[in-house]
Amino acid sequence: MDNRPIGVFDSGLGGLTAVRSLRQILPEENLIYFGDTARVPYGGRSRETLLRYARQDVRFLRTHDLKAILIACGTVSTTSLTTLQAENDLPIVGVVEPTCRRAAAMTKNKRVGLIATLASVRSGAYEACLARIAPEVQVFAKPCPLFVPLVENGRIHPGDIVIETVAREYLEPLLETGIDTLILGCTHYPLLSEIIGSICGPGVTLVSAGEESAFELKRLLKARELRADPRRAGTAEFCVSDRVEDFERIASLFLQEELRHGARRVDIEQY
Ligand code: DGL
Repeated sequence: MDNRPIGVFDSGLGGLTAVRSLRQILPEENLIYFGDTARVPYGGRSRETLLRYARQDVRFLRTHDLKAILIACGTVSTTSLTTLQAENDLPIVGVVEPTCRRAAAMTKNKRVGLIATLASVRSGAYEACLARIAPEVQVFAKPCPLFVPLVENGRIHPGDIVIETVAREYLEPLLETGIDTLILGCTHYPLLSEIIGSICGPGVTLVSAGEESAFELKRLLKARELRADPRRAGTAEFCVSDRVEDFERIASLFLQEELRHGARRVDIEQY
């Protein structure tokens, strides 16, 4: 048994979709979340910048005695996972492979859509992974750069004309390709799943990156005997690199729990 915490990070709020899943499937685990809200969005940045940010995020998280890290960010997972894994002596899980495995299992017509940030689509990581594990699957990718800033600004509610217009513009051409499964390849997007789901309709299964990676982490902890004592109630601590107030409001709404000690502000450039 190992009661040390798990580190989780994202550019901002998106990784909370993974935290929500972790709280449900691993309620005994302690979590330390870092959202890089001062530098969000990550999605349009170069590989070099993303790696620099990701290294700082990991260095900050590792000031705690962690047993594992979940990269709850599609953009960091698609561009920096293998480097971070090579540089760190603890298990690090990204979102790409678990999400692709689920999508490959769900699709019947072998036509899978991918929506993600520009950096993730540019990386080709989801396509490469699917080509390896399910070569019969065809991938239709669409970057959705406006989604993250809208989510970070709380524009996530059905009926909001701005987000609905943007979502239609991104999704309608993708639906014309005949996909029956859609990978939400950025962890911010499940916050829009009601809107995305209603545009796509019941014929398209949505696969959420954050959720699938939480299941992957559970498998990994079990395999390496790193699970916490199942009788305990895990805690969640939240750190951000910019104003805590907005984050706290949206985070508690989204997680459906009050943040026990609020969020803590961290100067990420120091790491
Ligand atoms: N939520 C992240 C992702 O999964 C980052 C999005 C962004 O900051 O652009 O890609």
